[in-house]
Amino acid sequence: MNQKIIVNSPAETIAVAQKLGSGLVPGSILTLEGELAAGKTTFTKGLALGLGIDAVVDSPTFAIVKEYEGRIPLFHMDVYRLDGDSDIEFILEYFDRGGVCVIEWAQVIEQDLPAERIDVKIQRLEGDGRAIIISGNEEELRHVDCSN
Ligand SMILES: Nc1ncnc2c1ncn2[C@@H]1O[C@H](COP(=O)(O)OP(=O)(O)O)[C@@H](O)[C@H]1O
Ligand SMILES: [Mg+2]
Repeated sequence: MNQKIIVNSPAETIAVAQKLGSGLVPGSILTLEGELAAGKTTFTKGLALGLGIDAVVDSPTFAIVKEYEGRIPLFHMDVYRLDGDSDIEFILEYFDRGGVCVIEWAQVIEQDLPAERIDVKIQRLEGDGRAIIISGNEEELRHVDCSN
């Protein structure tokens, strides 16, 4: 299943992500793809709202994983700078911890990603426009309504 949503402001990106986040279940794994300033962190803020998290969500770049408590815990990961197998093991352990894992730069660990996941791509359009492409199999998207 594949859904493409056009948004025109950061607030609309947050609204789409919040709706998606409110349907996620423990163990959900999402990848986030998009160039710098596409809106990956903005999207994650919306996911956090949907998970009932009121903490400030910022970029995990210097932490590898940031953890937030909510209806379901959120593990926000940036795997761009992973260094070696022990770092990969460290990340993979989060997949079974009953939270929602959001992974930026997921292509770095592509062969370790479960097939059961949701992939989100954000493409920049003119100005504040963005195309948000959400894909996953029916099972993964069963609880999820991403329309705007
Ligand atoms: N529709 C939109 N969705 C998300 N961000 C947008 C949008 N329009 C403009 N922006 C701006 O683009 C930037 C996105 O930053 P950020 O979410 O940190 O991107 P990334 O994490 O992909 O580098 C922010 O400055 C935000 O205000
Ligand atoms: Mg970011």
